[in-house]
Amino acid sequence: MDELQFALISAGISVLLSVITYNAWQRIKIWRALPRSLPTELKPKEQVEGLSDERALLDSAQTSFQPQVDHTQYDAAANGTTLSIAPAEPTNDLPLTNANRDARLVSIIDRRIDCIVPLHLSAPMAAEKLMPLAQRLRRVGNKPIFIEGKPSDNSTNWQSLQPGGRYQALRIAVQLANRSGPLNELEFSEFITGAQTLADTLDAELDCPDMAETVAMARELDAFAAQCDVQLSINATSDDAPWSAQYIQAIATHDGLLLSRDGMRFIKLDAKQNPVFVLQFNNINFLRDDLTYKGGQNITFLLDVPAADEDVLPFRLMCHYASSLSQRIGAHLTDDRQRALSTAELAAIEQQLIILYAKLEKVGMPAGSPLARRLFM
Ligand SMILES: *[C@@H]1O[C@H](CO)[C@@H](O)[C@H](O)[C@H]1NC(C)=O
Ligand SMILES: *[C@@H]1O[C@H](CO)[C@@H](O)[C@H](O)[C@H]1NC(C)=O
Ligand SMILES: *[C@@H]1O[C@H](CO)[C@@H](O)[C@H](O)[C@H]1NC(C)=O
Ligand SMILES: *[C@@H]1O[C@H](CO)[C@@H](O)[C@H](O)[C@H]1NC(C)=O
Ligand SMILES: *[C@@H]1O[C@H](CO)[C@@H](O)[C@H](O)[C@H]1NC(C)=O
Repeated sequence: MDELQFALISAGISVLLSVITYNAWQRIKIWRALPRSLPTELKPKEQVEGLSDERALLDSAQTSFQPQVDHTQYDAAANGTTLSIAPAEPTNDLPLTNANRDARLVSIIDRRIDCIVPLHLSAPMAAEKLMPLAQRLRRVGNKPIFIEGKPSDNSTNWQSLQPGGRYQALRIAVQLANRSGPLNELEFSEFITGAQTLADTLDAELDCPDMAETVAMARELDAFAAQCDVQLSINATSDDAPWSAQYIQAIATHDGLLLSRDGMRFIKLDAKQNPVFVLQFNNINFLRDDLTYKGGQNITFLLDVPAADEDVLPFRLMCHYASSLSQRIGAHLTDDRQRALSTAELAAIEQQLIILYAKLEKVGMPAGSPLARRLFM
């Protein structure tokens, strides 16, 4: 937990910033004091690079828009293809292109965050028979379940069940933890019961994992995730009159931010179409509320650290965007303690982020990877 010592920081321009860090895993806001000794200053060159990164990103986001996609259900773009993290819901509003159809053939089940139960089939089986049964097993308690098959055409790869497919073996997995906590005994038992029922229906054999061992692994993963689950937020406060929601919507849309499916936030996407940070405005629902009538004085920017790709420098990107927006619309980035902040403090928070990123990388779940995004959900 002590590694989570984040700081109040400044973008280094003549504005004040306030950064709230909190641990989403535990749903507790953690307010941290500024470190007194600060690491090295950022070089001006790095700042310029950061800004051009932002511009490049904004451009790419603008050219590749799809309206109203909820970032929690967002499809991950990996290696030029689209990989569905959540089991594909019928509500998925992305067209099923060849690219993302191929990507669904990619396996997502992973030993690091899933408890995997193999099912040995006595004979290859058609997807049409398996899929309705798999539909019944989507979750236990608040943990998602995934089912994958090994195609009978000699392929060695596991993949999610596809219409028209035939499978020689199945595996069924329950996620060991997500932001709702670790897999518990009850969820485990329910999962095994479900898997056993499926096995019986298919006349298959099942390798049952040990409950105590699995639950212990789930707790360990949960404890690890709790240490890495950090969110950072900054507010921009109006210099004078409140803004209307319509005005903020126009700005956010112009800047290439994408409205979430629930209408509650604008999402900044990176070049791979993954969320970087979000913008929220006074709890306004941009789909349902009367935007000419509603308004507010604070814009909140929020970065979900483990979910955003570290390579795009998401924190710096968010700070640059927040300060450039503030300059354009007459706002200041607010420090609730009315303190002036420096570039050194930005560097300090970035140092902390480097530690966090290294920690996630060490276990093979770099920030922004499909695995990290599935875990930190
Ligand atoms: C995409 O994946 C292929 C093989 O899986 C690999 O050879 C290639 O280098 C990858 N490309 C990128 C941009 O990661
Ligand atoms: C954990 O996963 C379950 C099942 O997919 C989902 O319903 C739940 O909302 C997730 N928890 C959080 C905090 O997102
Ligand atoms: C799988 O491989 C075996 C031997 O290598 C071959 O006899 C068989 O026809 C192959 N099956 C398919 C469906 O390709
Ligand atoms: C940011 O704004 C939100 C609501 O507008 C408020 O709840 C929150 O306390 C503000 N945070 C700071 C640091 O001012
Ligand atoms: C907006 O932010 C300022 C400073 O962070 C805070 O004092 C004020 O209460 C906030 N207003 C609302 C409506 O949340």
